[in-house]
Amino acid sequence: MRLGVFGTGYAGLVTSVGLAQLGHTVTAIDKDPDIVARLSDGRPTIYEPGLGELLTANLGAGRLRFTTRAEEAMAASDIIFLCVGTPPRADGRAELSQVEEVSCTIAPMLDGYKLIVEKSTVPARTAFWIDWTIRRLALGEREFDVASNPEFLREGSAVRDFLQPDRIVIGADTERARSLLLDLYEPSFDCPFVVTSVTTAELIKHVANTFLATKISFINLVSDLCEGLGVDVATVAKGIGLDPRIGSHFLQAGLGFGGSCLPKDLSALIKQAEDHGVDVGMLREVERINKARMDRLLAKVERALWVLRNKVIGVLGVAFKRDTDDIRGAPSLGVVPRLHGAGAILRIYDPAGARSLKALYPPDDRLGYVDSAYEAARNAHALVILTDWDEFRSLDFDRVRSLMRTPIIVDGRNLFEPAQLQTEGFEYYSLGRGDATLRREPQRVRG
Ligand code: UDX
Repeated sequence: MRLGVFGTGYAGLVTSVGLAQLGHTVTAIDKDPDIVARLSDGRPTIYEPGLGELLTANLGAGRLRFTTRAEEAMAASDIIFLCVGTPPRADGRAELSQVEEVSCTIAPMLDGYKLIVEKSTVPARTAFWIDWTIRRLALGEREFDVASNPEFLREGSAVRDFLQPDRIVIGADTERARSLLLDLYEPSFDCPFVVTSVTTAELIKHVANTFLATKISFINLVSDLCEGLGVDVATVAKGIGLDPRIGSHFLQAGLGFGGSCLPKDLSALIKQAEDHGVDVGMLREVERINKARMDRLLAKVERALWVLRNKVIGVLGVAFKRDTDDIRGAPSLGVVPRLHGAGAILRIYDPAGARSLKALYPPDDRLGYVDSAYEAARNAHALVILTDWDEFRSLDFDRVRSLMRTPIIVDGRNLFEPAQLQTEGFEYYSLGRGDATLRREPQRVRG
């Protein structure tokens, strides 16, 4: 089929490449000519495993091309995917100006039936406003439908998630829209399909991310109780996760959820629920628990080091999670300035490069960026782990210990077993598992 994709960010680029990989002809539009030139040259604009190879292959096969000219995409497409950004506004609602802008752009270009499909994550009933906007601006009576086909792509596994989806959700309010999207997807996927109304499909996406966020804050609440009881939250998570009604995924306690999706989708759903008179106290608690994770980690750093001023701290990981270079909503955005402000001397390392963080916090006499975890450990009083990169799990502890001034690790992602680190001669602090310190704690005086 002939497909158009507006927006070549995380969702748009993966969707464009994925649809081309399925054999469709895809014209992707971005307003930024530099992005269009870079992508046309086969150079991805995002760090996503496997994306570069597919981009190059589909460009070479002539199934995929990038342009700044929307009219080219409209003329060459029967289905138009809206993959533009919907970032959070200050009040927590989704910012939909890019969605409106594309709606205004395509309206006068409609010539004959087109199916316009929301792929970006939008609040329920956004399709109504897209339809309303296009009808006002279209040149005369134009046939079109607006449908919803939310993406469930995780950064770091987006290509796999597109090509091997758990399910495909189709929101369509006309038979024509419904059958077009089924024609598009059914030949390529044998996963479950959820075919429903547009509004229901829009809501499914927000509710999915809100539930994932809720699950993470739940296990982090339990993690705080585990600290008090001196038990390991990872074992509790394993014990409950083996119940298929609970499931073992998204029960990893730590610094909580970041990224460009869970935080913003949670706040957008809270706002929409409030607008409909729903008591959102439970969801506000999910947000509050998550925001408090960084303070708990910083308290651990102070417990480990006492005075932070002039202490050398190696920071391992700046991305919001492994296998991405995205720092949106990452714990590093809070932890780095707080440690820097407390007078610590930071040596920061991330395998995907800390380019985005370096732009926000340029190097100075107390803040340096290094090229390996070992360089971050050199002369450090402590290592603080903020991202669950696999390479941190396989560190050579003898080498790390020999490089550090004091063998202290504060782990915000619970990558290691406390007993293992104690055996390796480290003081190990994590979240929800008791602290493996080498010091003799002051005995509590009874009486
Ligand atoms: C999420 C949803 O998973 C995806 O379906 C949706 O399309 C987009 O939003 P993403 O934001 O890329 O994907 O990352 P995800 O893997 O969901 O992790 C989100 C955050 O939760 C990360 O900061 C991660 O570190 C954290 N997390 C995840 C936990 O703290 N504990 C867990 O058990 C899992």
